Amino acid sequence: MVTTDPFSGRTVLITGANRGLGQALVEELLHRGAARVYAGSRQPLTHPDPRVTTLPLDVTDAAQVTAAAKTVADLDLLINNAGISTPEPLGDRESLDRHLAVNLYGPWALTQAFRPHLTTAHGAVVNVLSLAAIASLPIMPAYSVSKAAALSLTQATRALLAADGVRVHAVLAGPIDTDMTRDLPVQKTPPEAVAHAVLEAVAAGTEDIFPDPWSAQLTESWAGGPVRKLEQDNAALLAQLT
Ligand SMILES: NC(=O)c1ccc[n+]([C@@H]2O[C@H](COP(=O)([O-])OP(=O)(O)OC[C@H]3O[C@@H](n4cnc5c(N)ncnc54)[C@H](OP(=O)(O)O)[C@@H]3O)[C@@H](O)[C@H]2O)c1
Repeated sequence: MVTTDPFSGRTVLITGANRGLGQALVEELLHRGAARVYAGSRQPLTHPDPRVTTLPLDVTDAAQVTAAAKTVADLDLLINNAGISTPEPLGDRESLDRHLAVNLYGPWALTQAFRPHLTTAHGAVVNVLSLAAIASLPIMPAYSVSKAAALSLTQATRALLAADGVRVHAVLAGPIDTDMTRDLPVQKTPPEAVAHAVLEAVAAGTEDIFPDPWSAQLTESWAGGPVRKLEQDNAALLAQLT
């Protein structure tokens, strides 16, 4: 029996697509037969595959986000992947602002801008978060705060966009072998393996995704645990009141 890949023929936008996990997601989607991959990038980017369209996209630039939403006619899947992580101390207010601008307001702005497209397609959003969203990494306090806030954003968006038929996924990844963790002396998973696991989980309808051996230890306890139960109870309250 021939089975069709769920991403075959789909249109996808990935932010931060020029390197690291974003680049690996582009390649995995092309491999799986995506019809069009919009590669959002702050850097000039070319790709040999004609299915890739580069979008100049700094996720903190409102004008570029608006322009991207006008350029893209249809969209099945938005992957909010762009992120920053720098190790300033928690007392550095500018660092906190910078992390929130990219890691929280970035996914917020993209999701708002592409909500009409995703509603039409009954599509999906994938927010690339981190295990630091659920347990703060004190060596990267601003990063952890921003990813925790982005997890809350993800939960709210998940409940609110359900009425539009749009699914919202969180990727709660452990260390990935990219520039971001170049100086971190821990075991890391190759971005290609993470990209594959993320898309497998999205295809399976998994909402909270633990895509590497480190994070995967939490899969079962998280799925049946009190945080998920509370999230579902809160979503049910929304349904009662609207
Ligand atoms: N690496 C890890 O261990 C790890 C673990 C868990 C989660 N994550 C998450 O995975 C995602 C990808 O990270 P990575 O590991 O691939 O890191 P990376 O190699 O440092 O890549 C980060 C990407 O984000 C882009 N970016 C940064 N600020 C941006 C902005 N304002 N607008 C648009 N793009 C921007 C970068 O573009 P430029 O090239 O222009 O800077 C780059 O493409 C991030 O959300 C990160 O938090 C990473």
